[in-house]
Amino acid sequence: MEDLYAYPVARIGLIGGGQLGRMMVKAAKRLGCTCVVLDPLQGSPAGQVAGHQIVGDYSDPARLRELAESCDVLTFELEDIETETLIRLEAEGHRIFPRPHLLATIQDKYRQKQFLHDAGIPTSDFLDMPTPDATAFAEFGYPLVQKARRGGYDGRGVVVMPDAEAFAGRMPVPGYIERFVEADKELAVMVARNVHGECRAYPVVEMRFHPRDNVLDYLLAPAQVPLDIARRAEDIAVRTVESMDGVGVFGIELFLTADGDLLVNEVAPRTHNSGHHTIEACVTDQFEQHLRAILDLPLGDTRQLTPATMVNLLGAPGFQGRPMIRGLAAALAIPGVCVHIYGKAVTKPGRKMGHVTVVDDSVEEACAKARRVKELIMIEGDIKL
Ligand SMILES: Nc1ncnc2c1ncn2[C@@H]1O[C@H](COP(=O)(O)OP(=O)(O)O)[C@@H](O)[C@H]1O
Ligand SMILES: [Mg+2]
Repeated sequence: MEDLYAYPVARIGLIGGGQLGRMMVKAAKRLGCTCVVLDPLQGSPAGQVAGHQIVGDYSDPARLRELAESCDVLTFELEDIETETLIRLEAEGHRIFPRPHLLATIQDKYRQKQFLHDAGIPTSDFLDMPTPDATAFAEFGYPLVQKARRGGYDGRGVVVMPDAEAFAGRMPVPGYIERFVEADKELAVMVARNVHGECRAYPVVEMRFHPRDNVLDYLLAPAQVPLDIARRAEDIAVRTVESMDGVGVFGIELFLTADGDLLVNEVAPRTHNSGHHTIEACVTDQFEQHLRAILDLPLGDTRQLTPATMVNLLGAPGFQGRPMIRGLAAALAIPGVCVHIYGKAVTKPGRKMGHVTVVDDSVEEACAKARRVKELIMIEGDIKL
């Protein structure tokens, strides 16, 4: 292996300048890489850290080309990008990971579901539903879940329907319906795979969702499940990424049923909210791991060194405008509390403004502290709604 690198080790072109991008840029700098960020918002969270930003839409062909031509490798921190230009750029010889055709499959939730099914990955039964139809829904049977093909995140694009009455609340968009899964727990496994097919999983984590707004409430790392279930979840996640021939870091969300069955819910072709704890709790964090994978470097150690929990810091209801962070000092006074503020210039109710990872001797102790942090830190805005 030729092992001599001129600085910068690589010039990374990053599509999307949000918090995931920001954390990736930090990791990139640590490895001796430089980054250019493409984002419509001047001074985006990632752009601030990178120092170089192209201001433009994620799907603007001219801006994507400019990014590709100024970098050695392109990657992205979000799924909702037009893939046509990326496919063309790749055909011209630009390196883009994960591969654009895989992004095209995954970003269309129906195609993703079909892929999982065809690859023999366990997932709930489903039916294509280009236009929602009351009879077809009833024949499929309630309870069910309607999902939009494109553009959903944080529960937007998903409607849980307990019975036929819920049909009234359907989304009038192309999508599919799937069996409602009575899940005991929702789990996630971050998997990294490099160009040579070297593949590593992080220990499985458990996601607890806020019942109202579907945003992750607490992340428990590792998941509080028996060892055999953890192994199986990690195996399924690795198999999923291998079947996709994926290169990069992927987040695999799974349902665990009361019977101990594991079903893949969805796959994110990128770093993920449920891998944030890896920054403090694992030998190699998910952002550096992603860069290692796409730069064809050896993958890092995925071992978790300490129990951890993670909570998102959301914009408080009733406020918008310039963020005012209440309770920061009190939270930082608690040992094991690691605060990440994303540098967003404007807060809105429910907007992800930061997160906190708590490391401690046990997940329970970490959770107790995280609960206190949630009470202490409030991200308000200078404008009252
Ligand atoms: N088939 C299902 N059965 C039960 N709950 C589901 C099902 N599909 C989705 N959900 C719930 O909705 C949440 C969001 O759905 P998901 O497909 O993961 O979309 P998103 O892209 O918004 O994360 C899941 O985390 C889960 O709580
Ligand atoms: Mg999800």
